[in-house]
Amino acid sequence: MKVTALLLSGLLTSTIVLANPYESKQEELASVIETGQKSSMLLLKTLGGNLKKHMKAGGPMAAAEFCTTNAFTLTDKVGSDLGDDVTVKRISLNYRNPANQAATDQESSVLKTLQTLQDNNVLLPEYLVEQVNKDTYKYYKPLSINKGVCLKCHGDISNNADLEAYIGKNYPEDKATGYKMNDLRGAIVVTIKK
Ligand code: HEC
Repeated sequence: MKVTALLLSGLLTSTIVLANPYESKQEELASVIETGQKSSMLLLKTLGGNLKKHMKAGGPMAAAEFCTTNAFTLTDKVGSDLGDDVTVKRISLNYRNPANQAATDQESSVLKTLQTLQDNNVLLPEYLVEQVNKDTYKYYKPLSINKGVCLKCHGDISNNADLEAYIGKNYPEDKATGYKMNDLRGAIVVTIKK
């Protein structure tokens, strides 16, 4: 009886030792995903809340001006609030602000892959994770045109002459109009250092 118990515990210990590298990798991934989810939600809440407030107060023109002046810096601020090991940004193939274009081949390949999936009627995943190097990960959250309000500035804007002129002046190479409901708009990228 005693011998059996000993053997069993020996067996268990060796299994645990063997399983360890895999388990710690899984744990690391789980924590990357948790940070990615938390950070992307915070960014969406911050930008969405401000957009709503300014749309209500002054309509699309006031809200667009707010976005021009603040969306990028607000995004950076959310990143610094999340600590030294986390940065957040938005990327798009059809960007309005050139600062939001894909910064690496991998980022652009993720966006193109998501677009291909979408074009083939494949439901997009909630997130994708790229391991950049031993201790850096990128968490990608696909962003879609998921509210009617997005179309006011990313749909057909030719019916709003003021806004059209504003966008033309501030974003001479704008690629971010002509979207329809549920189109893929881009992604949030959360870079996480472990
Ligand atoms: C009031 C006009 C307005 C509305 C409404 C609006 N946007 Fe934008 N959007 C902008 C402007 C201006 C920019 C460029 C400035 C920036 O955010 O960096 C932008 C940029 C973006 C970007 C960053 C990539 C890029 O093209 O530069 C994403 C992603 C985005 N918008 C998604 C959305 C989504 C999703 C919605 C609906 C929830 C939405 N927008 C609603 C005006 C708007």
